[in-house]
Amino acid sequence: MSALDDKSTDASASGGTADPGSQDSPKDKGGLAMLITFIIGLVGSLVVGWVVFPKVLYSTREQPIQFNHALHVEEAGGCDSCHYFREDGTFAGVPTLDACVDCHESAIGDSEEEAKFVENYVEPGIEVPWLVYSRQPDCVFFSHAAHVKKAGMDCVTCHGPVGESTSLKPYQENRISGYSRDIWGYDISGIFKKHEWDSMKMDDCARCHERETGSKGACFQCHK
Ligand code: HEC
Ligand code: HEC
Ligand code: HEC
Ligand code: HEC
Ligand code: HEC
Repeated sequence: MSALDDKSTDASASGGTADPGSQDSPKDKGGLAMLITFIIGLVGSLVVGWVVFPKVLYSTREQPIQFNHALHVEEAGGCDSCHYFREDGTFAGVPTLDACVDCHESAIGDSEEEAKFVENYVEPGIEVPWLVYSRQPDCVFFSHAAHVKKAGMDCVTCHGPVGESTSLKPYQENRISGYSRDIWGYDISGIFKKHEWDSMKMDDCARCHERETGSKGACFQCHK
């Protein structure tokens, strides 16, 4: 990215200073050359920044098995049959096999995904290593109780319509930080952020805190 930028500024600088006091036509040519190099440089940087950079920055991993939220919300009843608060107020998060075995002790249907699930995880008693899109780095403290129970917020606000989805999107991992792409979001600049759930960076948490509680909060509130 920077290499391209350098090239465009070098080229446009020399285009602009090539003929300081000469007649009109070479001057126009210089101006045109400068404009063209500028446009090439600009387009080049945009392509690198918006298309190439994200492709290089993120590696894609598939989930171990597919999961259909819409189907299961109907079969199992509300979200809290799987995502519940424990007695001590902590949030159980992604369900363990306990939440599945009552129905999937053996295969119910004849889908390939279910067969894979029963054979590889339920029968040998191995937890599914789900890749969690929203997971924050270890240094961040987040409490579902404070947001869902105390502040009465809906899951959709921060996670989007996950509960209505019928399949899992591929998980994208940031090669530098190791975080999920959902933390920084698909639009790194943040200019086109439409929904709260589009990204969940430090700024995103702080922005809502300022709006809802009047203060961005101290570092130790969110960092252990
Ligand atoms: C039958 C159990 C079950 C029910 C019911 C259920 N979920 Fe889930 N949920 C899962 C499993 C399994 C995962 C992990 C796989 C995944 O990411 O979808 C998960 C993951 C999630 C995640 C985390 C996604 C991430 O990786 O960050 C959210 C958010 C979520 N569910 C919301 C909901 C909502 C909202 C409802 C109710 C409308 C709901 N779930 C109902 C089983 C369930
Ligand atoms: C209340 C019963 C119930 C519970 C609890 C339940 N499931 Fe299911 N599950 C079903 C039914 C019904 C189907 C559809 C089977 C069919 O007709 O193919 C299904 C299908 C599936 C499939 C195949 C989906 C596909 O796209 O082909 C997977 C994988 C699965 N469940 C995983 C899970 C996991 C993981 C859990 C625990 C977090 C879980 N289920 C909990 C009832 C349940
Ligand atoms: C204020 C925003 C917010 C709300 C509201 C919210 N979540 Fe989350 N959720 C998060 C964040 C942030 C994480 C990542 C936490 C971490 O990694 O420490 C997360 C993580 C999760 C996870 C993965 C936990 C794990 O194993 O790492 C699940 C599942 C989940 N949320 C489900 C839900 C459900 C269901 C609801 C509604 C009852 C809900 N969330 C409401 C922000 C929210
Ligand atoms: C959409 C709004 C919203 C977003 C996004 C949000 N929060 Fe909050 N958060 C709140 C509100 C409202 C409270 C105050 C809850 C209360 O005490 O009534 C709060 C409280 C907290 C608290 C204090 C909990 C306590 O024990 O008092 C922590 C810590 C926190 N948030 C961390 C985070 C982190 C980390 C993120 C981002 C990953 C985040 N929040 C994203 C709205 C939000
Ligand atoms: C409202 C919650 C919140 C507050 C307050 C907050 N942070 Fe953060 N911080 C986060 C979250 C969430 C992340 C991870 C996502 C990201 O990188 O933006 C993060 C990431 C960071 C990181 C990068 C760590 C890494 O491993 O990538 C540093 C450094 C940091 N915060 C420092 C601070 C300092 C210093 C303060 C006080 C001025 C502060 N934070 C206040 C939520 C918060």
